[in-house]
Amino acid sequence: MRIPDLHSAHFITRFSPIYILMEGRPENGANPKPLLRALAGETLDRPPWWLMRQAGRYLPEYRDLRRQAPSFLEFCLDPELATEATLQPIRRFGMDGAILFADILIVPHGLGARVAFREGEGPVLRPVRSAEDLKSLTPQRFGERVAPVFETVRRLKRALPPSVTLIGFAGAPWTVATYMVEGGSSREFARIKSWAYTMPDSFGRLIDALVAATIEYLSGQVEAGAEALQIFDSWAGVLPEPEFRLWVIEPTRRIVGELKKRHPGVPVIGFPRGAGLLYPDYVSGTGVDAVSLDTVVPMDAARELQSQAAVQGNLDPLMLVAGGTAMAEAVERIRAALGEGPFVFNLGHGIVPETPPDHVDQLAELLRT
Ligand code: CP3
Repeated sequence: MRIPDLHSAHFITRFSPIYILMEGRPENGANPKPLLRALAGETLDRPPWWLMRQAGRYLPEYRDLRRQAPSFLEFCLDPELATEATLQPIRRFGMDGAILFADILIVPHGLGARVAFREGEGPVLRPVRSAEDLKSLTPQRFGERVAPVFETVRRLKRALPPSVTLIGFAGAPWTVATYMVEGGSSREFARIKSWAYTMPDSFGRLIDALVAATIEYLSGQVEAGAEALQIFDSWAGVLPEPEFRLWVIEPTRRIVGELKKRHPGVPVIGFPRGAGLLYPDYVSGTGVDAVSLDTVVPMDAARELQSQAAVQGNLDPLMLVAGGTAMAEAVERIRAALGEGPFVFNLGHGIVPETPPDHVDQLAELLRT
């Protein structure tokens, strides 16, 4: 008869209750979740992955769920529906990260700016364009207005498989301000630039209000169970250098600094879309742990950034629409360039509604090997 070797993994796995204690207990304090390991600066054999806007209209089950709420805002603020929307892509594709289902415009809603999403038109907000308009905001009710989002995070924490990282998020003050000042989406950013360039002190009060609200909002998500945070600065790339420093780097630095004080172990990912040559200054100036790269960032520049922080990105969302060999080659190019350092595979911007879900399956398969 063979005596089982007490030190063999097989023995421990099959016969010992030690196995149960070992499972889920990180060795030497290290994190067992692949996404958190990469965000902490580790290089992994297989990159962890998730996709910006991974929940949404490209999924038929999302479209069914969406019909159950009268408006998109009510959908985001219904913990049951928002939990289900977050879980849908995880169930189908098995990403390493689950991003809380909500929207960056929940913060203006919390501040009392009237926010609506119109079908085919996008978001519409009652505009805030002057110091006088700031008085119409009601930040004292912020906590109660955003509370349903924290409930969604608590439910997700219970529902997610143990290897999946729960990512909370908010828009950066500059990007959120573009929607508040322009009253919706914009091409030229004429109104916000005119206010920021001619009256920086008064515009700075809107940014200050957003910095304070964003800190409370992200901190609340962490207290409810978020394990990593992403700050979306989708319109960072429309500012000249001095204003980029003032309205993108500086407010983000204040948010990251305060979050690091309150929750030192929680990694923060910054996404300054379109920052171009200012990416390195964004990383050093804000103190983010990881940086999400837009589609245009070249691999040489991305590799250099890896000496400063973990990088995330940057497949063109339209490559995911293309699929097939074009996508397979693009994925391989990115992995070959960035796989030797701390790296999270993602898109360079959000999934578009035309994306065939089969192509996300193909991507998942490519990233498994
Ligand atoms: O899956 C996820 O990534 C989580 C959910 C999420 C949404 N929006 C859901 C959403 C996240 C992280 C966002 C971020 C967001 N929202 C950004 C930053 C990222 C980016 O894409 O640049 C911005 C700029 C917004 C603002 C916003 N929300 C716009 C301009 C629109 C209308 C345009 C559009 O894509 O429809 C939205 C609506 C929105 N947010 C939808 C979803 C799934 C579609 C609305 C619907 O389903 O009816």
